[in-house]
Amino acid sequence: MSKICDQKAFRRALGMFMTGVTVVTTTDPEIKIPAGFTANSFTSLSLEPPLVLVCLGRDANLYEVFERASGFAVNILSASQREISNNFASPIEDRFAGLDQTLSALQNPIIAGATAWFDCQFERRFVAGDHMVMIGAVQDFFGSDRPSLGYARGSYFNERLEKQALDAVSSDNLIRAGAVVEYQGKLLLQNGAGRWTVPSSTPKNSAAEAMTDLKQRLDGLGVTGEIGWLYAVEQESRHQCNSMYFHVLAAGVPESLPAGAELVPMQEIDFTCFNPFESGILERYVREHERGRFGIYFGTEEVGNVAMR
Ligand SMILES: Cc1cc2nc3c(=O)[nH]c(=O)nc-3n(C[C@H](O)[C@H](O)[C@H](O)COP(=O)(O)O)c2cc1C
Repeated sequence: MSKICDQKAFRRALGMFMTGVTVVTTTDPEIKIPAGFTANSFTSLSLEPPLVLVCLGRDANLYEVFERASGFAVNILSASQREISNNFASPIEDRFAGLDQTLSALQNPIIAGATAWFDCQFERRFVAGDHMVMIGAVQDFFGSDRPSLGYARGSYFNERLEKQALDAVSSDNLIRAGAVVEYQGKLLLQNGAGRWTVPSSTPKNSAAEAMTDLKQRLDGLGVTGEIGWLYAVEQESRHQCNSMYFHVLAAGVPESLPAGAELVPMQEIDFTCFNPFESGILERYVREHERGRFGIYFGTEEVGNVAMR
């Protein structure tokens, strides 16, 4: 019997490993139609001979297709291809509809705009646990320096964007870290002296100190879960204090919260009770949550840009 009885915790621990995102494609040899699924289990295996590895769940609908295919292509998605990743992980009828793609020499679909791709012939495939390990002998490949899409802790990230934004707040100004904390479709908000805020640190001398303070505050509220991706960066000249806001998808929030803290359903948030910057952040969060696609804001209270993640 397995020693690992808490599967959720096991998955969460595995999710700490940052990966890229790939779409693995093939052409069904029987009905000659393209097939593909999103995978982050891709690994480079050998340089000589050139081999790559990817795993497919045994319960996947495409399992039999990949069992009889003679090869596959691994498309490494670029930072702007988040939607493609979602499509190839969803039960939609035609994942290739409207997709800009070509066929490789081995007849595997190659997705336009991918950072890199590897066209492979099956070297070996075998079952290990609940997955099939697929080892491909690379016959052809392409690589570019397009930034690739990242994935960690169950969320996508765009390393280049986050670095740009963090570089911008690393100045002589003080720095504050805040969090948009989501739990079961509600946001964790705090109310004091008639004003509402999101949980945040006090102004600190460095981003690291602000993050530590924010983490302590979240711990104090009983919020469990990791501080996730950067959601907004505000450069504020008047108060000599820059702010950075992070997304926290809470794993748990206590039923009885400390005084002043409340979990508020997104549709019931009164945005007028927040300072204009936080009001803008929360309005955008609720809107983006509905669409399932999030951006990152970078600017001042008055002007700035939202770049899609
Ligand atoms: C970022 C990400 C990575 C994934 N990695 C894998 C993987 O490595 N192997 C796998 O079998 N499924 C993986 N999945 C899930 C499959 O893409 C998903 O189950 C898909 O629906 C399988 O397609 P099928 O059931 O139509 O065959 C991943 C999903 C996402 C969003």
